Amino acid sequence: MFEKKFFFNTKKYSIISNGVVTKKSPSNIALIKYWGKKQNKIQIPLNSSMSYTLGEVYTVTRLSFSMIERKKRSIKLFFSGKEKKSFLPKILKFFHRISFYCSYLQYFNFVIETYNNFPHSSGIASSASSMSALSLCIMEIEKKLVSSLKEDFFLKKASFLSRLGSGSACRSIYPGLVVWGYHKSIKNSNNLYAIPYPYKVHPIFTKILDTILVIDETPKKILSSTGHQFMSNNPYAKSRLKCAHKNMNRLISILKMGDFKEFGKLIEHEALTLHAMIMTSDPYFLCMKPNTINVLYKVWDFRKQSKKNLYFTLDAGANVHLLYPIKEKKFILKWIYSELFSFCKKIIESFCQ
Ligand code: PMV
Repeated sequence: MFEKKFFFNTKKYSIISNGVVTKKSPSNIALIKYWGKKQNKIQIPLNSSMSYTLGEVYTVTRLSFSMIERKKRSIKLFFSGKEKKSFLPKILKFFHRISFYCSYLQYFNFVIETYNNFPHSSGIASSASSMSALSLCIMEIEKKLVSSLKEDFFLKKASFLSRLGSGSACRSIYPGLVVWGYHKSIKNSNNLYAIPYPYKVHPIFTKILDTILVIDETPKKILSSTGHQFMSNNPYAKSRLKCAHKNMNRLISILKMGDFKEFGKLIEHEALTLHAMIMTSDPYFLCMKPNTINVLYKVWDFRKQSKKNLYFTLDAGANVHLLYPIKEKKFILKWIYSELFSFCKKIIESFCQ
C-alpha cells in the first residue's frame, strides 16, 4: 500500500505553458455503503465500502490550462455549456486540498468544461463521476509534466485525488467491483485510495444490469458531505459500523459462491440501513419520496410472485437502482417499463461494468 507521502511528486517537472486534456469518468453504485467519515481527518471513511462502477452514466470533463501571466490565478467552470459560479467553491476547496500533492497546479489558470449525461445532485452519484473525471484530467497534466509516470501510479493517485474531492469518487477510477477503506479481509484495502476488488468472483456477478429509476430530478436537499458529518452524533452509528464490517465479510463470501438471492438481500439491507442512519441523525432527514416507497413495495411483490432476481439499492437520495442478472433482462425490463414507469421522471438503463 502507498502512504500519503508517495503522492507528493518530488521528480522534476518538464515545462509546458498550456494545453487541453479531456477525460470521461463513470458514476458508481455502492453495495456496501460508505456513510460517515473520521473527524478531524480529510475524507477518511468510518467503514470500508464496495461498489460497482456503472456503464453509460458518466461525466466528461475538458480541462484547459495556461501558464499564469499575472499573479492571480483564475479558475472558471462551465457546466453543460453555461458558466456555473455556484460550483466554484467546491472546486476551489478541492484544488486547495490537493495543492500539496500537485504543486504544479499553482502555475496555471484553468477552464473546466464539464457535462453529465444524467441529472446532477439527484442521488445518482454526480460528485463521484465529476470529481473522478477532474482528477483524471489533473493526472493527465501530471503525465505531461513527468515523463516517467507509470500507469499504476497514475490510477492510484487519480483515486487518491478523487477521494479528496468526494469520498466515493475514488471508486470510480476502476471498472467492476471496487473497494475503498481498510477491511482486514481484503488484501491491500486502505483508506487513502480505492482498489479493484482483488478476488475471483462467480460469473453471475460479472454480468449485472442496473436500471436507475429517476424519481426526483431536483438537487438533493441534504448533501452527502453534510450527511456524513451527522454520523458523529448518531446514537446508532456504532452498531452501523459493526454491521457494515460484517456485511463486507458476507459479501466477500457471496461473491465467491454466486448466491444472487443472498446478494440481493444484503444490498437491500445496506440501502435501508443507510436511510435509517439519515433518518436517525440529528438533524434527521428523509430522502425517500412517496414514489420511492411505492417502487420498493412493487419490487417486493414482483419478486414474491415471479421468483425473479430483482433487488434494489439506494444512494442518499430518492432514486432507486434496480440490480438483476443480465440473463433475466427480457422479462424484468419489460415489467419495469410497464409497472414502474408511472412512478418515475425517467429511466436510465445502465450496467455494472
Ligand atoms: O462521496 P460522497 O461524499 O458523495 O458520499 C457518498 C455516499 C453514498 O453514495 C450514500 C454511499 C456510497 O458509498 O457511495
